[in-house]
Amino acid sequence: MSATNTPEEVLYFLDQLQQAFNNGALQRLVLSKYQGRDAGLNRVTIRPVLLKNSLVLSFLYEYQTQHITKNIPIEESLTLLANYLGEEFKNAHLFSQSAEIQLRFSKKGKALLSEHRIKDIKTETNVDISHNRDKNRFVKQDRPYLQALGVTDSKGHVIPAMSRKWKQINKFIEVLSAAIDKTELTKQREIHIADFGSGKAYLTFAVHDYLSDTLAISPRVTGVELRQGLVDLCNQTATKLDLGGIKFEQGDVQHFAAQNINIMIALHACDTATDYAINMGIRSNADIIMCSPCCHKQIRPQLKTPPILAPLLQHGIHLGQEAEMITDGLRALLLEANGYDTQVFEFISLEHTNKNKMILALKRKTQRDNSQTLDQIAELKRFYGIEEHCLEQLLQQAN
Ligand SMILES: C[S@@+](CC[C@H](N)C(=O)[O-])C[C@H]1O[C@@H](n2cnc3c(N)ncnc32)[C@H](O)[C@@H]1O
Repeated sequence: MSATNTPEEVLYFLDQLQQAFNNGALQRLVLSKYQGRDAGLNRVTIRPVLLKNSLVLSFLYEYQTQHITKNIPIEESLTLLANYLGEEFKNAHLFSQSAEIQLRFSKKGKALLSEHRIKDIKTETNVDISHNRDKNRFVKQDRPYLQALGVTDSKGHVIPAMSRKWKQINKFIEVLSAAIDKTELTKQREIHIADFGSGKAYLTFAVHDYLSDTLAISPRVTGVELRQGLVDLCNQTATKLDLGGIKFEQGDVQHFAAQNINIMIALHACDTATDYAINMGIRSNADIIMCSPCCHKQIRPQLKTPPILAPLLQHGIHLGQEAEMITDGLRALLLEANGYDTQVFEFISLEHTNKNKMILALKRKTQRDNSQTLDQIAELKRFYGIEEHCLEQLLQQAN
């Protein structure tokens, strides 16, 4: 469609889009009723995104088996849309904070506009296009996976019973996003993520959505889970949401062979499953290793209380906390000794649970002498009389 014969309705629609974009009021534009030649394309959802301080439109092309995202500057987007509207897509729905405008085309090709102005404009709630503007808004609340997993309802409101899970998802993506910013991963066309002990996969879907929708990178996400029932459920959810690049496999992290992982995630994988996951991350040279350990069973029975600590560790609760600290402290040191800059910090405080620690490790860009760290590990093991640490053994087997 050339500019000279573009119908007035289309020009008006594009003008409204541009205004909403310029005012920060654009929520999304959905193109549907596709009649072009791109096999399998269902619809395109377009949203504003802030990429490296520049506001662009992110086009999510939703195919039957996969999704492709393209980020396009506004001027180029308007030209592209002028060609799409009426030719390839017979329906377009614009959602902004002030209006919902629909442009559709009759069988004879006549453009028809309908507009619904929203009177109660909440000017203080600008559309969240920055992924780090607000801690609790790191994840967009209207994302379909949140509804499919029962975190939000059909209106996109967080279900009260899921508010802690919602906070956890946001915190997780916030931490992941900051970690990704420190790597070169956004330059890659595809990123492989393995999530060990994926469970109901709230975080697995969240990472897939963040990479594909917000960062516009094609993710290849594999959730590995012991329980077949959960694996089936999560695969069904991925199919229902028509998501490409995410799959769930039944398996035990102890025997799972994974290669070329860029981001290794293991959140609350039980006991030494965390060690197997970290080992797999190190072996496959992952850029980011992110784990939140739970149920620390291996070290506690081995601990020989150093005499000076006996008055403190006579209390079972203290001994448990000590064992946990030593287990995770050694994991962090082992990661350091294997080429990773490592942090241990509070992940999210969920009431009535102590699963609130995160070990985050980023592959170091330059090598360094690790002998001092190895000496520290040996000294700590001697001090506490520890014979075996699962991660250490796995790493030794690899060498
Ligand atoms: C507490 S859930 C955490 C789920 C999810 N990662 C989260 O944080 O929301 C732990 C999951 O790890 C799975 N799991 C435990 N040990 C595993 C192993 N060795 N291999 C694979 N999955 C395991 C369990 O079946 C369970 O679903």
